[in-house]
Amino acid sequence: MGVVLPAGGSGSRMAEAGAPPKQFRRLGGAPVLVQTLRAFHRHPAVNVAVVVVPVGEEAATRALLAEYGAEADVVTGGPSRQASVAHGVRALPPAVRTVLVHDAVRPFVSQAVIASVLQAVLAHGAAAAALPVADTLRQGGRGPLFGTTVPREGLWAMQTPQGARRDWLVRAAANAAGHLATDEVGLLQHAGHPVWIVEGDARNTKLTRPSDWKLAEALWPDWAASEE
Ligand code: C5P
Repeated sequence: MGVVLPAGGSGSRMAEAGAPPKQFRRLGGAPVLVQTLRAFHRHPAVNVAVVVVPVGEEAATRALLAEYGAEADVVTGGPSRQASVAHGVRALPPAVRTVLVHDAVRPFVSQAVIASVLQAVLAHGAAAAALPVADTLRQGGRGPLFGTTVPREGLWAMQTPQGARRDWLVRAAANAAGHLATDEVGLLQHAGHPVWIVEGDARNTKLTRPSDWKLAEALWPDWAASEE
């Protein structure tokens, strides 16, 4: 099985003066990207990993992975997450028939979630981790009044890993015809493939805002002790 870790975004929501992009910030003594990569390498079914980075970051990322002894091919990202993932999938060796895609900025991915998504991909062709929405949802602008309530029954907050048979992913990307999905589920469904839901993990969040970082640092020691 092959893993693609898109880390090609600029991380503008997390940007702080002088701080490196979020995927290169340190968590528990190593860059987030390295911690995420280590989680996948700990899983016995993972044979190969590809990291997709912003243009110009390739050499620095290779050096960083070497410094931490983390093995992965490094390829250049594209203008969208979808394009970056397509670059990553293309770089996997031809023998790889099953692909998991995981946001590089979700280092709290458990072995249990990786195993469940992989099992569902092997059984059904495509699968993704998600959590049932727990908060009440309202739609509206940023004005002083709330808009309408959106019934949350049957709604899922999508996470990664999201994975599929490689041929499904490749064909879906080739036939997207301008359709830009924000995740692999969107792309696969656009191509007509059903995607199996796998229960994710509340800790498996995307480190997006500066406040996420403080929480991540507080949680890391216990997490590392239970997973490593
Ligand atoms: O923008 P968003 O937070 O949805 O990004 C999710 C993941 O996709 C991040 O790991 C980000 O680095 C990656 N990404 C990418 N190429 C882009 C945009 C985002 O690999 N052009």
